[in-house]
Amino acid sequence: MKKKIAVLYGGRSGEHEVSLRSAAAIMEGLRSLPDFEVLPVFITKEGSWQLNGSRVTVLPDPDLKGLYILDGERTGNLVTVDVIFPVLHGTYGEDGTVQGLLELARIPYVGAGVAGSAIGMDKILMKAALKAAGLPVGDYLWFTAFDWQQEPDKWLAAVKAELGFPCFIKPANLGSSVGISKAYNEQQLREAIEEALLYDLRVIAEKFIAGREIECSVLGNDEPQASLPGEIIPSNDFYDYQAKYLDGRSRIIIPAQLAPEIIDEIRHLAVETFKVLACAGLARVDLFVNEAAGKIWINEINTMPGFTEISMYPKMWEATGLPFTELLQQLIQLAEERFRQKEALKTSIELEE
Ligand SMILES: Nc1ncnc2c1ncn2[C@@H]1O[C@H](COP(=O)(O)OP(=O)(O)O)[C@@H](O)[C@H]1O
Ligand SMILES: [Mg+2]
Repeated sequence: MKKKIAVLYGGRSGEHEVSLRSAAAIMEGLRSLPDFEVLPVFITKEGSWQLNGSRVTVLPDPDLKGLYILDGERTGNLVTVDVIFPVLHGTYGEDGTVQGLLELARIPYVGAGVAGSAIGMDKILMKAALKAAGLPVGDYLWFTAFDWQQEPDKWLAAVKAELGFPCFIKPANLGSSVGISKAYNEQQLREAIEEALLYDLRVIAEKFIAGREIECSVLGNDEPQASLPGEIIPSNDFYDYQAKYLDGRSRIIIPAQLAPEIIDEIRHLAVETFKVLACAGLARVDLFVNEAAGKIWINEINTMPGFTEISMYPKMWEATGLPFTELLQQLIQLAEERFRQKEALKTSIELEE
């Protein structure tokens, strides 16, 4: 019997289009394997789920585990699934929301659980957790839209005094560089904060880090492994949306050309980051490396990294000796393993008679 894998893609996110491309590559890979049947579940930008032209949903009731058909010819029927692969980047997909629904429905799924997804998506909580674990992150501070409205001068002064220029201003919860600016002076800083607050109610300000941009893929549950790292050479002043997706001039170098001891340290930090942030299955850890200064900083984690055939995550695994389709097989196995582990846990206290 083939395993039925429902691939969720699209979604209510600024990264909707990126998700379409990742999912196309993943579905093609899964279909090329004899063990799997793929159920493509497209999620519109408004958030409605569709399977082969019918609206479907997952209900938070484990008795109705699977894809429940809401319209079309088989209305009311249930399509059973073995594993769900949420190939969703950014909000309403990579941030714990879909993961929460799948936990309630008791369906195995690929990737981090609710907490790992949510914390990985929130740059403020992510940096706080890494810092608390003694992992290297750059200097930062954060405030809310409310704080900013109350005392803008105080926050401008704090950023200037604690971080200096240039600095980075980012919405706490977004991806693909959306809403992110590099500010070189006070005027730009004001504009950057106003811009970031269009996207989120909290912003993070970070000190500029002069370093090469290095990424590392992590795979596993209890014993996560790290790939060889890769390097990004952005075409713009920083790796902004344009440099990521539009101009096609950013370069990637896999594996990154770094001293062996630096590579070991990067892989170690990537695995530690994965563990501290309660990840499962997969994640891509992005770092900055300044070899001359002998320093490495963790920039961020992506719990559902870009996954086209030419994306960093699968490419770095390929360079480490793990081909695309084997990577997919392992991700499905890891989803099932994590599900079994969770199912075996007690959910209530059994009182002695
Ligand atoms: N503190 C920093 N110092 C230097 N460059 C940075 C810093 N923060 C972000 N950048 C640049 O901005 C890009 C996007 O920031 P990042 O935090 O990775 O956001 P996203 O989640 O949108 O990818 C990075 O890839 C890097 O080029
Ligand atoms: Mg990034």
